[in-house]
Amino acid sequence: MKKGEKILFGVVALLVIITVVNFVVLESVRRHSEKPLFPVLTHFDFSADGLQGYHLYQQSNCYSCHRAVGSGTSMGVSLDGLGSKHDTSYFYNFLKNPEQTYGSRTLDHGAPPKDAAYVASLPDADLHSMAVFLSELKSDQGSSSSFEPPKGESSFIDSMIDMWAPDGWRSQYKDIRDWIKTKSTEEQHDAKH
Ligand code: HEC
Repeated sequence: MKKGEKILFGVVALLVIITVVNFVVLESVRRHSEKPLFPVLTHFDFSADGLQGYHLYQQSNCYSCHRAVGSGTSMGVSLDGLGSKHDTSYFYNFLKNPEQTYGSRTLDHGAPPKDAAYVASLPDADLHSMAVFLSELKSDQGSSSSFEPPKGESSFIDSMIDMWAPDGWRSQYKDIRDWIKTKSTEEQHDAKH
Protein backbone atom coordinates (compact mmCIF):
# COMPACT_ATOMS: atom_id res chain seq x y z
CA MET A 1 0.00 0.00 0.00
CA LYS A 2 1.12 3.54 -0.70
CA LYS A 3 1.50 5.97 2.14
CA GLY A 4 -1.59 7.99 1.06
CA GLU A 5 -3.71 4.86 0.97
CA LYS A 6 -2.56 3.88 4.43
CA ILE A 7 -3.56 7.29 5.81
CA LEU A 8 -6.92 7.15 4.03
CA PHE A 9 -7.75 3.65 5.30
CA GLY A 10 -6.47 4.62 8.73
CA VAL A 11 -8.84 7.62 8.90
CA VAL A 12 -11.82 5.56 7.69
CA ALA A 13 -11.05 2.76 10.18
CA LEU A 14 -10.76 5.31 12.98
CA LEU A 15 -14.15 6.83 12.09
CA VAL A 16 -15.75 3.38 12.03
CA ILE A 17 -14.25 2.55 15.44
CA ILE A 18 -15.42 5.87 16.94
CA THR A 19 -18.94 5.30 15.58
CA VAL A 20 -19.14 1.75 16.96
CA VAL A 21 -17.79 2.83 20.38
CA ASN A 22 -20.27 5.75 20.51
CA PHE A 23 -23.16 3.47 19.63
CA VAL A 24 -22.22 0.87 22.24
CA VAL A 25 -21.75 3.51 24.97
CA LEU A 26 -25.02 5.29 24.12
CA GLU A 27 -26.99 2.04 23.98
CA SER A 28 -25.64 0.82 27.31
CA VAL A 29 -26.35 4.20 28.94
CA ARG A 30 -29.87 4.09 27.53
CA ARG A 31 -30.47 0.53 28.74
CA HIS A 32 -29.14 1.06 32.22
CA SER A 33 -30.44 4.52 32.95
CA GLU A 34 -33.60 4.81 35.04
CA LYS A 35 -34.72 7.93 33.21
CA PRO A 36 -35.56 7.91 29.49
CA LEU A 37 -32.98 9.68 27.30
CA PHE A 38 -35.65 12.06 26.09
CA PRO A 39 -38.47 13.02 28.40
CA VAL A 40 -41.78 11.46 27.32
CA LEU A 41 -44.26 14.32 27.13
CA THR A 42 -47.38 12.48 26.07
CA HIS A 43 -49.64 10.16 28.04
CA PHE A 44 -52.86 8.19 27.68
CA ASP A 45 -55.38 6.60 29.94
CA PHE A 46 -57.92 4.77 27.82
CA SER A 47 -61.61 4.44 28.59
CA ALA A 48 -63.31 1.20 27.48
CA ASP A 49 -64.39 2.91 24.24
CA GLY A 50 -60.91 4.35 23.72
CA LEU A 51 -59.31 0.94 24.18
CA GLN A 52 -61.73 -0.55 21.67
CA GLY A 53 -60.73 2.29 19.30
CA TYR A 54 -57.07 1.44 19.84
CA HIS A 55 -57.69 -2.18 18.79
CA LEU A 56 -59.56 -0.98 15.70
CA TYR A 57 -56.72 1.43 14.96
CA GLN A 58 -54.28 -1.49 15.06
CA GLN A 59 -56.53 -3.68 12.89
CA SER A 60 -57.06 -0.88 10.35
CA ASN A 61 -53.35 -0.58 9.56
CA CYS A 62 -53.17 3.06 10.59
CA TYR A 63 -49.75 2.42 12.08
CA SER A 64 -48.32 1.72 8.65
CA CYS A 65 -48.23 5.53 8.34
CA HIS A 66 -48.68 6.80 11.89
CA ARG A 67 -46.93 6.58 15.22
CA ALA A 68 -49.00 6.31 18.40
CA VAL A 69 -48.65 4.80 21.86
CA GLY A 70 -44.94 4.30 21.27
CA SER A 71 -45.08 2.26 18.06
CA GLY A 72 -45.68 2.63 14.34
CA THR A 73 -43.84 4.50 11.61
CA SER A 74 -43.07 8.13 10.99
CA MET A 75 -44.43 8.29 7.43
CA GLY A 76 -47.47 10.35 8.45
CA VAL A 77 -48.22 12.51 11.46
CA SER A 78 -47.35 11.29 14.94
CA LEU A 79 -50.69 10.95 16.71
CA ASP A 80 -49.43 10.93 20.30
CA GLY A 81 -50.64 14.01 22.13
CA LEU A 82 -53.04 15.13 19.37
CA GLY A 83 -55.99 14.67 21.75
CA SER A 84 -54.93 17.85 23.54
CA LYS A 85 -55.43 19.78 20.31
CA HIS A 86 -58.68 18.37 19.00
CA ASP A 87 -61.79 16.66 20.37
CA THR A 88 -63.66 13.49 19.42
CA SER A 89 -65.96 15.18 16.93
CA TYR A 90 -63.03 16.80 15.09
CA PHE A 91 -61.34 13.40 14.74
CA TYR A 92 -64.54 11.73 13.58
CA ASN A 93 -65.11 14.48 11.01
CA PHE A 94 -61.51 14.30 9.86
CA LEU A 95 -61.63 10.53 9.33
CA LYS A 96 -64.95 10.82 7.49
CA ASN A 97 -64.36 14.03 5.47
CA PRO A 98 -60.62 14.69 5.59
CA GLU A 99 -60.24 17.66 3.24
CA GLN A 100 -63.28 19.61 4.44
CA THR A 101 -62.17 19.17 8.05
CA TYR A 102 -58.50 19.89 7.40
CA GLY A 103 -59.37 22.98 5.40
CA SER A 104 -56.70 22.27 2.82
CA ARG A 105 -55.57 19.56 0.44
CA THR A 106 -54.45 16.32 2.04
CA LEU A 107 -51.83 13.86 0.94
CA ASP A 108 -53.15 10.43 1.94
CA HIS A 109 -56.58 10.82 3.55
CA GLY A 110 -59.41 11.66 1.13
CA ALA A 111 -60.96 10.23 -2.01
CA PRO A 112 -59.45 7.31 -3.95
CA PRO A 113 -56.79 6.75 -5.25
CA LYS A 114 -55.20 8.29 -2.14
CA ASP A 115 -53.50 5.66 -0.01
CA ALA A 116 -55.65 6.20 3.10
CA ALA A 117 -58.92 6.59 1.16
CA TYR A 118 -60.21 3.34 2.70
CA VAL A 119 -60.37 5.04 6.11
CA ALA A 120 -63.42 7.19 5.26
CA SER A 121 -65.43 4.10 4.24
CA LEU A 122 -64.83 2.14 7.46
CA PRO A 123 -68.03 1.56 9.50
CA ASP A 124 -69.25 4.66 11.32
CA ALA A 125 -69.13 2.95 14.72
CA ASP A 126 -65.44 2.07 14.14
CA LEU A 127 -64.59 5.63 13.13
CA HIS A 128 -66.31 6.87 16.26
CA SER A 129 -64.34 4.51 18.54
CA MET A 130 -61.10 5.49 16.83
CA ALA A 131 -62.01 9.16 17.31
CA VAL A 132 -62.46 8.50 21.04
CA PHE A 133 -59.08 6.71 21.11
CA LEU A 134 -57.41 9.66 19.34
CA SER A 135 -58.96 12.18 21.75
CA GLU A 136 -57.45 10.27 24.68
CA LEU A 137 -53.88 10.64 23.40
CA LYS A 138 -52.94 13.61 25.58
CA SER A 139 -49.88 15.81 25.61
CA ASP A 140 -48.12 17.38 28.59
CA GLN A 141 -46.90 20.95 28.78
CA GLY A 142 -43.79 21.39 26.66
CA SER A 143 -44.51 18.59 24.19
CA SER A 144 -44.54 19.47 20.48
CA SER A 145 -48.25 18.67 20.37
CA SER A 146 -49.09 20.94 23.31
CA PHE A 147 -50.09 24.59 23.06
CA GLU A 148 -48.14 25.24 26.25
CA PRO A 149 -44.37 25.75 25.95
CA PRO A 150 -41.97 24.03 28.39
CA LYS A 151 -42.12 25.06 32.04
CA GLY A 152 -39.75 27.74 33.31
CA GLU A 153 -37.79 30.45 31.58
CA SER A 154 -36.19 29.60 28.26
CA SER A 155 -33.53 31.85 26.82
CA PHE A 156 -33.91 29.89 23.58
CA ILE A 157 -37.59 30.83 23.20
CA ASP A 158 -36.82 34.45 24.19
CA SER A 159 -34.13 34.78 21.56
CA MET A 160 -36.29 33.11 18.90
CA ILE A 161 -39.09 35.58 19.60
CA ASP A 162 -36.65 38.51 19.51
CA MET A 163 -35.29 37.29 16.21
CA TRP A 164 -38.42 36.20 14.34
CA ALA A 165 -41.58 37.75 15.75
CA PRO A 166 -42.56 40.92 13.83
CA ASP A 167 -42.74 44.00 16.10
CA GLY A 168 -46.49 44.41 15.61
CA TRP A 169 -47.12 41.02 17.22
CA ARG A 170 -46.18 42.26 20.67
CA SER A 171 -49.13 44.64 20.79
CA GLN A 172 -51.40 42.39 18.76
CA TYR A 173 -50.91 39.09 20.60
CA LYS A 174 -50.42 37.97 24.17
CA ASP A 175 -47.46 35.78 25.12
CA ILE A 176 -48.98 32.48 26.23
CA ARG A 177 -46.21 32.17 28.84
CA ASP A 178 -47.54 35.27 30.64
CA TRP A 179 -51.01 33.77 30.55
CA ILE A 180 -49.70 30.48 32.06
CA LYS A 181 -47.94 32.45 34.81
CA THR A 182 -51.08 34.39 35.79
CA LYS A 183 -53.12 31.18 35.57
CA SER A 184 -50.82 29.33 37.97
CA THR A 185 -50.65 32.22 40.49
CA GLU A 186 -54.43 32.43 40.39
CA GLU A 187 -54.65 28.70 41.06
CA GLN A 188 -52.30 29.00 44.03
CA HIS A 189 -54.34 31.92 45.23
CA ASP A 190 -57.56 29.90 44.92
CA ALA A 191 -55.99 26.94 46.71
CA LYS A 192 -55.22 29.11 49.74
CA HIS A 193 -58.83 30.19 50.13
C1 HEC B 1 -51.20 5.84 3.70
C2 HEC B 1 -50.81 6.49 4.93
C3 HEC B 1 -51.85 6.73 5.99
C4 HEC B 1 -52.72 5.81 6.54
C5 HEC B 1 -52.88 4.34 6.18
C6 HEC B 1 -53.45 6.51 7.55
N1 HEC B 1 -53.04 7.83 7.61
FE1 HEC B 1 -53.74 9.25 8.89
N2 HEC B 1 -52.57 10.65 7.99
C7 HEC B 1 -51.69 10.41 6.96
C8 HEC B 1 -51.16 11.69 6.49
C9 HEC B 1 -50.14 11.87 5.39
C10 HEC B 1 -51.78 12.70 7.26
C11 HEC B 1 -51.71 14.21 7.09
C12 HEC B 1 -52.94 14.60 6.32
C13 HEC B 1 -52.88 14.16 4.88
O1 HEC B 1 -52.14 14.77 4.12
O2 HEC B 1 -53.59 13.19 4.50
C14 HEC B 1 -52.63 12.01 8.22
C15 HEC B 1 -53.37 12.64 9.19
C16 HEC B 1 -54.10 11.99 10.17
C17 HEC B 1 -54.67 12.64 11.33
C18 HEC B 1 -54.39 14.06 11.71
C19 HEC B 1 -55.50 15.07 11.64
C20 HEC B 1 -55.00 16.42 12.11
O3 HEC B 1 -55.79 17.33 11.95
O4 HEC B 1 -53.90 16.59 12.61
C21 HEC B 1 -55.36 11.68 12.03
C22 HEC B 1 -56.11 11.86 13.31
C23 HEC B 1 -55.19 10.44 11.31
N3 HEC B 1 -54.41 10.65 10.19
C24 HEC B 1 -55.72 9.22 11.71
C25 HEC B 1 -55.60 8.03 10.98
C26 HEC B 1 -56.29 6.79 11.33
C27 HEC B 1 -57.17 6.59 12.55
C28 HEC B 1 -55.94 5.88 10.37
C29 HEC B 1 -56.41 4.45 10.25
C30 HEC B 1 -57.84 4.20 10.24
C31 HEC B 1 -55.02 6.54 9.45
N4 HEC B 1 -54.88 7.85 9.84
C32 HEC B 1 -54.44 5.92 8.34
C33 HEC B 1 -51.37 9.18 6.43
C34 HEC B 1 -52.06 8.00 6.68
